Amino acid sequence: MKAISLNGKWKCKSDVENIGIENKWHMSENYNLNDNNLKDIEIPKSYNFLKGFENFEGIFWHFYQFELNEETDLNANDYQIRFKGANYNSKIWLNSKFLGEHNGGFTPFSFIVNNLIKERNNFLVVRIENTRKRDQIPAMSFDWFNWGGIYRDVDLLILHKNRLNNVSIKTILTTKQKSRVEVSYNIKGEVLLKWQIFDSTKTYILHEGISLERSGKGGFNLIINNPKLWTPNTPNLYYLRIYDISQKSKELLIFNTHFGIRQIEIKGINLILNKKRIFLKGASLHEEYMPYGRTIPYEKRKEDVSNLKSLGFNAIRTAHYSHDEDLIDIADKVGILILEEIPVYWSCDFKNPQTYETAANMLTELIWRDINHPSVIWWSVGNEVPLHKKTCSKFIKSLMNLARAIDKTRLVTVVSRKIIPDLTRKSVDIATINSYFGWYFGHVKMISFVLDLIRTPVFNKPWIYTEFGAGAKYGFHADWNKQVKFSEEKQLQVLDYTIRTINSKDHFAGWFIWIYRDFRAPKRLNKFQQGYNRKGIVSGEHNEKKLIYYRFPKIISEKRKTYNTKILGILLWIIFFPLSYLLFTRMIDQFLEYRVKKEKF
Ligand code: GCU
Repeated sequence: MKAISLNGKWKCKSDVENIGIENKWHMSENYNLNDNNLKDIEIPKSYNFLKGFENFEGIFWHFYQFELNEETDLNANDYQIRFKGANYNSKIWLNSKFLGEHNGGFTPFSFIVNNLIKERNNFLVVRIENTRKRDQIPAMSFDWFNWGGIYRDVDLLILHKNRLNNVSIKTILTTKQKSRVEVSYNIKGEVLLKWQIFDSTKTYILHEGISLERSGKGGFNLIINNPKLWTPNTPNLYYLRIYDISQKSKELLIFNTHFGIRQIEIKGINLILNKKRIFLKGASLHEEYMPYGRTIPYEKRKEDVSNLKSLGFNAIRTAHYSHDEDLIDIADKVGILILEEIPVYWSCDFKNPQTYETAANMLTELIWRDINHPSVIWWSVGNEVPLHKKTCSKFIKSLMNLARAIDKTRLVTVVSRKIIPDLTRKSVDIATINSYFGWYFGHVKMISFVLDLIRTPVFNKPWIYTEFGAGAKYGFHADWNKQVKFSEEKQLQVLDYTIRTINSKDHFAGWFIWIYRDFRAPKRLNKFQQGYNRKGIVSGEHNEKKLIYYRFPKIISEKRKTYNTKILGILLWIIFFPLSYLLFTRMIDQFLEYRVKKEKF
């Protein structure tokens, strides 16, 4: 495969009246460079960076004229135009022909353009709409800035007619000293394959072989003895290259990737990486880094990962959607675990089959994008959705089944904020809880008992505390004893106490602070927030490190002496179990949700 970048100087214009389609803006004869509404835009970039469109949610048309600039036999290959990410609805035309559309802002999509692509005078038109709609994923309300547009790379891919799709590399540890590697793929066209596995130096061939299947499904297995395992501390990588040798004269490299030998599994209440218990010390991260927005330079992403590792973190949760594949590539190489998610967030149209199809497509696109990245260990199919409702829990369980059908090597879950009535907790691989004691409600000192109480009905699997935190405006300080909201001191106290408490709970397999960096949240407008969610440990505008940032190395693995209240938790369940208890807990949930909503915006 060869990729020609289509990044660069594009033109664009808004379509506030939504007249572009009926006026055929996609036709080259209707494109006029003297049109005063046309603006320059350096793709990849969100149109919210354009003056006057800082908070625009609507339709923008993008136009790009390009040459192939190389002698290419247009019949010898397949051609695809690939978008790594564009938010939200994308409609694409090439040389006035409609290619198709895509829904979703955070996963790659592509269109075959054989017979349409020309050597010169290609005219690519992309209509993007980021208007919120009830049947979309996410829908009307979400706590992040709705960046619109083509904010990730665009490429023209030149593909061999005979190639592999959906290559999956499974690594199973039969023992710590012996790994079975199972490679499977779909063949497009007809091939004769030679494969080679290189060690981390990319120079020494460890194994090689010929695969006999010439079409349809194919694959091969091999054993690697004394493998150098992939872990966050030892991110050892191997390299797989697959050649088509069907043409005697030459070997065509048709697949090439790094992979890691690691195995993630659950044993009782423990999370096991490479046959050893692991405890996740994580941070959530939105894909936003000002002044770049979502179009974050590789080095800046790498800096974030290195900073988190230097503080003692070993995991990142890509909230609440998949980030650019650059982050996953960095995580593989630098060594940090990644927990990925699709943005089935808060209230969605769970009854609508179209909405389910959108979510299922996103999940499928994400899994096939990242299936061979060793750093990725779980797929979360949503966040804080009403899991006490049957329609929602059915929607979520279907998505979890889909994830397991595609990928049996990773954990599957949904991130829940339900203290009690959560209808999916029996179906998840790992139980999760988001709860902000000491911020939205209650006192941080309640946390130890709550963690023992909620485990009672779900005692046979690990728990992850997936969100907790407190806001702080960088530079706002107050007396340690006064617990002043939005002070750096209060944020430190809440996080410090919570982390050391969770560290002391053996049925917890980890925690994730909410969140590494402050991020734009348009409805958060008090004098401390000013349009930002301030729960980051670094500020959103300039990455200034707050007090808590310097505290992590000391507390990240420290335990606090806690009372074991598991028995009390079980007694409460037994005493209160009848309907009144469910009613009672629903009241807690509704109260908690009310308090959260009241505080949220
Ligand atoms: C929720 C939600 C986040 C949100 C956070 C907050 O748990 O998952 O998206 O930003 O609370 O209120 O800060």
